[in-house]
Amino acid sequence: MSKGKILVTGGAGYIGSHTTVELQNAGYDVVIVDNLSNSNADMINGIERITGTRPAFYQVDCNDKEAMKDVFAKESGIKGIIHFAASKAVGESVQKPLMYYRNNLDSLMTLMELMPENGVEGIVFSSSCTVYGQPDILPVDETAPIKPALSPYGNTKQINEEIIRDAIYSGVPYKAIILRYFNPIGAHPTAEIGELPNGVPQNLVPFVTQTAMGIRKELSVFGDDYDTPDGSCIRDYINVVDLAKAHVIAVDRMLTNKSEEKVEIFNLGTGRGVSVLELINAFEAATGVKLNYKIVGRREGDIEKVWANPDRANNVLGWVAKENLEDTLASAWKWQEKLRRDGIM
Ligand code: NAD
Ligand code: WQD
Repeated sequence: MSKGKILVTGGAGYIGSHTTVELQNAGYDVVIVDNLSNSNADMINGIERITGTRPAFYQVDCNDKEAMKDVFAKESGIKGIIHFAASKAVGESVQKPLMYYRNNLDSLMTLMELMPENGVEGIVFSSSCTVYGQPDILPVDETAPIKPALSPYGNTKQINEEIIRDAIYSGVPYKAIILRYFNPIGAHPTAEIGELPNGVPQNLVPFVTQTAMGIRKELSVFGDDYDTPDGSCIRDYINVVDLAKAHVIAVDRMLTNKSEEKVEIFNLGTGRGVSVLELINAFEAATGVKLNYKIVGRREGDIEKVWANPDRANNVLGWVAKENLEDTLASAWKWQEKLRRDGIM
């Protein structure tokens, strides 16, 4: 029997597609709304190949209130929303701030306006460790202060969190869970779904796999003079399937009234900091592929080091990141190899 219907905005994207698979595996019916601005409808086929079930899919912009009303009318009984849909390229957000504010703020507000009249009980929101900036205390927990955003993209996440808190405190008839992701990487072990970077990847792991494939000549390591053991920056790289599973637990929690507060915040990370050079070594060890890289200057705006204190998610949600870095990097490589086999890149 179905556990209920969940609307996944941005469900054709990287984290949304993996989460749809885990929701279906857990017994939920999924309705995806995605305008395909940063994804491909083939992801829906990939989801179906993994789970044997095709999620309902609407190519709709979630800023389009009338079109969203139609989705709610056609898909009656949506109990919860996971809101992934957003523009996420940090550099592009500096070039096109209004586009980022419009897309990332309007979409959330449109959904929140439609929730009460459609009886939706809760929303899970994709936030980011970017809200912490460079934390004063590491590992960083959810009580750490929010630092001034370094980009319009980062600012949209901070403002989105405030919008959610203000609405919840005003007494709206639904709950919210804010999930602050650290650095999601890897792909589904079947290589049926994964990350599809648009143009030259800005994120480390897609750049690593594309360099290993020969699509990029060499990887630039942005700085080896940071105050870290090997001088390169440290992040908390979290397997995307582990991350997806946390969303299922968050939805279960909201819909079964286990939430202690009407709005809750959880860090989703491994608790382990990994440097850029360590990640390169782990990739080479996991895949046997030698990576061409050189050390270059620092990238403007980079945080020196950040990794999660995931105790709250571990203890309250009962969720733990299980996959190790090597297997996760091997899954990213398997996905890159599949993109090559399929002639995509
Ligand atoms: P993604 O770009 O792969 O997925 C986002 C999806 O949303 C895409 O399929 C895109 O087509 C869709 N979309 C964007 N605007 C839309 C709109 N107005 N209406 C309908 N669909 C729309 O990105 P992702 O990596 O899967 O990220 C998902 C969420 O997680 C985003 O909110 C992102 O900011 C957040 N996040 C991502 C990371 C990361 O490193 N990937 C880290 C922290 C937070
Ligand atoms: C990781 C590390 C780079 C590319 C970004 C967003 C953040 C969040 C996650 C959504 C850094 C180094 C990278 C390269 C390199 N997204 N690097 N060579 O910087 O943690 O955060 O994605 O919310 O908001 O800013 O991730 O993957 O870009 O970089 O040396 O070609 O890899 O300097 O240390 P980051 P990243």
